[in-house]
Amino acid sequence: MTCRVAVVGAGIYGTHVLNVLASAGREGACELVAVAEKDAERLERARQRYQVAAYESYEAMFQQEKPDAVAIVTPDHLHRAVALAAAASRIHILCQKPIATSSRDGLDMIEAAEKAGVLLYVDYHKRFDPAHRALKRDIAQGRLGSILYGDVYMEDRIEVPSVWFDSWAQQSSPAWFLGTHYYDLASWLMASSPCRVWAYGNKTKLKALGIDTYDHISALVVYDNLAAITFHASWVLPDCFPSIVNQQIRLVGSEGICEIDAQDRGMLTSYSGEKSSQVHNPFSKTEQPDPYDLPLAGYTCESILHFLRILRRHKAGESLRDLAGLYPGGKDALTATRLCEAIHESLETAVPVSLA
Ligand SMILES: NC(=O)c1ccc[n+]([C@@H]2O[C@H](COP(=O)([O-])OP(=O)(O)OC[C@H]3O[C@@H](n4cnc5c(N)ncnc54)[C@H](O)[C@@H]3O)[C@@H](O)[C@H]2O)c1
Repeated sequence: MTCRVAVVGAGIYGTHVLNVLASAGREGACELVAVAEKDAERLERARQRYQVAAYESYEAMFQQEKPDAVAIVTPDHLHRAVALAAAASRIHILCQKPIATSSRDGLDMIEAAEKAGVLLYVDYHKRFDPAHRALKRDIAQGRLGSILYGDVYMEDRIEVPSVWFDSWAQQSSPAWFLGTHYYDLASWLMASSPCRVWAYGNKTKLKALGIDTYDHISALVVYDNLAAITFHASWVLPDCFPSIVNQQIRLVGSEGICEIDAQDRGMLTSYSGEKSSQVHNPFSKTEQPDPYDLPLAGYTCESILHFLRILRRHKAGESLRDLAGLYPGGKDALTATRLCEAIHESLETAVPVSLA
């Protein structure tokens, strides 16, 4: 029962998603059938590289190809329209994080998927990092006791907002683009929801480059388990920083502490001709070509492969209701989205904000 999958958006992350689905296709886990992309050059590149049908319009692709599932990899604020069109055509959805840049859009997507009876899975891959999974298990077993407080940071090199997607960075923010990963992770790890937030951010460096968004967004969030977690999401690390992203979570409980450095996984290279030494994260994604031609692996791949796994189980007869809780779904994404909104509200009003 092969799942026919299409992709909308063949930009930087779309290429990763296409690589993972193509690799899964070679293993018989799915069939990558088509790609839709508005940019003609990117579309042609994807058509040639993956040998799939190529469309400028995702609506035409849905009509012609009738895929079982679609991966939505358009900019953050453009997920809703594609998801609604997919649900209307009864196509299962793998949506990139954040689900949307407003909870209204996210709710529309959840309602459309529920009405159509299709899977809505949001690619929160931090849940698939083996270190985070070990922490989740340890918290569930009570090894940390009651979580009291914690600290999180996720920081990109400045090239991400200023070169990779300068055209839409100001319609997103470090909170929507980066923070959302760890807002979701913290709720998932602690099985708790955020209830109060106070946030602060600066608009200096990116604004001087003509990109009107925050350099960083720092937030103190209190959860319904009474834990207080600080989150720093930032887009301004210098180009010489030795990896594209710097990230860490530490949680302290009444009985223990756990710290996970998700940047420095112990692999450093210094090669002539490169601008600096590089610290790699092979947990995230293995590099190709692989010496044994192993399929792409790592947590950023596992979350996409898990979508295919859940879909296979659904097609084999398990209901979406029974499968709920086994993957990051639309409602989980809405919790992170509401927190992002509350963080932005607190940034703009300079006062703490309560989440209903
Ligand atoms: N999971 C992760 O770690 C991760 C990492 C990076 C990006 N992302 C997410 O992936 C999404 C895309 O980010 P990106 O960095 O690839 O951005 P990008 O700008 O490189 O690519 C987006 C692509 O979508 C295309 N597009 C826009 N509207 C379209 C439409 N209507 N039909 C077809 N194509 C359309 C654009 O032409 C562009 O090529 C964002 O939501 C982002 O947050 C996730």
